[in-house]
Amino acid sequence: MKNIVILISGSGSNMAAIVETAQRERWSDTLGATVAAVISNKPVAAGLAVANALGVPTQVLDHTGFANREAFDAALAQAIDVHTPALVVLAGFLRILTPAFVNHYAGRLVNIHPSLLPAFPGLNTHQRAIDGGCRFAGATVHRVTAELDHGPILDQAVVPVLPGDTAATLAARVLAQEHRIYPQAVKTLLKA
Ligand code: GAR
Repeated sequence: MKNIVILISGSGSNMAAIVETAQRERWSDTLGATVAAVISNKPVAAGLAVANALGVPTQVLDHTGFANREAFDAALAQAIDVHTPALVVLAGFLRILTPAFVNHYAGRLVNIHPSLLPAFPGLNTHQRAIDGGCRFAGATVHRVTAELDHGPILDQAVVPVLPGDTAATLAARVLAQEHRIYPQAVKTLLKA
């Protein structure tokens, strides 16, 4: 079985979209793939309950309990590698990763970012798109490299920026597209 491990920090709606698609499309039968675990660096992440409700085992690895980024990433890799994952999926996992971690998962690590990369890496993407007068915004699924929010693009979705948009209204429009493209990009990688 090709195991997928999903990392979250918050609401986990992208994680849920992937798990629900995997269950609906019977990925275990059709692709020999399953979401083996959801791991959060935040004990309060709402996505943990969502994952449990979907029947996916969860684990919390609180980054505040570690002396530095290297120590946390090493422990995280240990927790992930219990599942010998074919794919490690970052889904709103809001941590900067060490090069050692990224290298360890070379070719197996993907992320979704709420902008049309290479525009607007980093935080506050929606407000920055509005402030920049962008007519279009969107989301990008990409392979993860050591540089934050960079790496080969696997898929993108585009949405209009509408008059009167706030960061919240634009984020909601983009998020709906994230839920569409991320499960499909994961599926494509599993088939490769
Ligand atoms: C999503 O919009 C995702 O693209 C973004 O965080 C949100 C998580 O929502 N990720 C980043 O900003 C990464 N740089 P979710 O927890 O409901 O999936």
